[in-house]
Amino acid sequence: MSTCVPTELSGCAEKLIRGRRATRAFRPEPVPEEAMRSIFALAGAAPSNSNAQPWRVEVVSGAARHRLAGALRTAHAERRTSVDFPYSDRMYGPEHQARRAAFGAELYGALGIGPDDHAARAAYDSESLDFYGAPHAAFLFVHGSDHGEGEARLAADVGAYMQTLLLAMTAYGVDSCPQGLLSFYADTVRSELGVTAAKLLVGVSFGYADGAAPVNRVRTERAPLESTTAFHG
Ligand SMILES: Cc1cc2nc3c(=O)[nH]c(=O)nc-3n(C[C@H](O)[C@H](O)[C@H](O)COP(=O)(O)O)c2cc1C
Repeated sequence: MSTCVPTELSGCAEKLIRGRRATRAFRPEPVPEEAMRSIFALAGAAPSNSNAQPWRVEVVSGAARHRLAGALRTAHAERRTSVDFPYSDRMYGPEHQARRAAFGAELYGALGIGPDDHAARAAYDSESLDFYGAPHAAFLFVHGSDHGEGEARLAADVGAYMQTLLLAMTAYGVDSCPQGLLSFYADTVRSELGVTAAKLLVGVSFGYADGAAPVNRVRTERAPLESTTAFHG
């Protein structure tokens, strides 16, 4: 049996993968354009089924970012939601629900929002739609055929792109938060950005973390290896 010898690359991977975490309060400074181009070029190296690369990525900064945040908050206030990939709490089994509850308690605890304070949670959603103050947001669309077939497979490819993007950002010292919430306003995002014929999977806010914000001290745990992974043979 061979032993596992850490290499320079495995050390980097441990640091990179474990060093990424969701950031929910940002400083306003923008990411330099050159770093931005390097990050998105690296993210494009993500794998996909038959190398189809069925993602379409729209990045907003500056005036476009502010306009979109305004449109999202208006849509939120007017309860105009629209979702391309249906969501339901019933997607989750009991073990997933338990992990979600533990995470929610951690997050809302750090924000000082009580479990039954629905008004404060709604206000926090509105803040989330301002990308937590991040200077940039990327919107990841699934770009398939007009028939809409095999969408789950295409969405899996875009998920692989998302994680590659998050790790590329971490590597370049850029903090991020994937935000499923943004996908609940798909029509608003599409109309603001002039996107047609692509479905919105997720948005990613990014920039530089506000180190003083208590919400950025939230840490999440993972299930033990044996509870998710079996080795056969
Ligand atoms: C597809 C996806 C959607 C997410 N949506 C949200 C969101 O809407 N709001 C939020 O605060 N965090 C969101 N997150 C971040 C998760 O809560 C976070 O990744 C998870 O709790 C693990 O924590 P970590 O990223 O710090 O390791 C999302 C993450 C993923 C992968």
